[in-house]
Amino acid sequence: MHVETFLPAFLMFTVLGLVLPVILSKVAMDGRLMPEDTRAKPKAAASVYDQIGGTAAVDAAVDVFYRRVLADAYVNHFFQGVDMSKQAAKQKAFLTMVMGGPHNYTGKDMREGHKHLIKMGLNDSHFDHILMHLRATLAELGVPENLIQTIIGVAESTRDDVLDR
Ligand code: HEM
Repeated sequence: MHVETFLPAFLMFTVLGLVLPVILSKVAMDGRLMPEDTRAKPKAAASVYDQIGGTAAVDAAVDVFYRRVLADAYVNHFFQGVDMSKQAAKQKAFLTMVMGGPHNYTGKDMREGHKHLIKMGLNDSHFDHILMHLRATLAELGVPENLIQTIIGVAESTRDDVLDR
């Protein structure tokens, strides 16, 4: 056989038989041949913020929440003279952050933010009222009970700071 006829066949054999399998197995191992969602990758647990519906849900919750709070004569005097649109924006950013959403809260920490209210008589009974309004708000918006409990737990964890003790 002449070299001219043998060489193309030899090259073809080398490429198909030896080189191609090596390339294919490497690509497959990299995962590039597998569909996107079947590749092994750790799944991050969805945050409470995502589970309740993200920004839209937090916005709705805080608006309903402050409507309730301002209608409650037991606690609304604490909010006298407070710019409620600024307050709602701070509360939205704070709740978003503590529920595992984006960190955009630039307000005071809970102790500093409420210190002046202690002088006005702020105590556990007022805190309980606020939690009651938060719970009722979330229930009204159809948030599932297990998530309500998680969110109330987060709010509860700020009690000693809010009450400065
Ligand atoms: C669940 C617990 C609470 C959370 C997570 C919370 C959250 C916040 C946040 C994020 C701010 C903004 C702080 C800043 O100025 O940078 C704030 C301010 C304020 N909070 Fe709360 N709060 C809680 C409990 C309470 C309670 C029990 C009361 C009274 C009944 C209250 C009344 C106020 C008032 C009046 C302000 C505005 C202070 C001002 O601008 O003069 N908060 N709160």
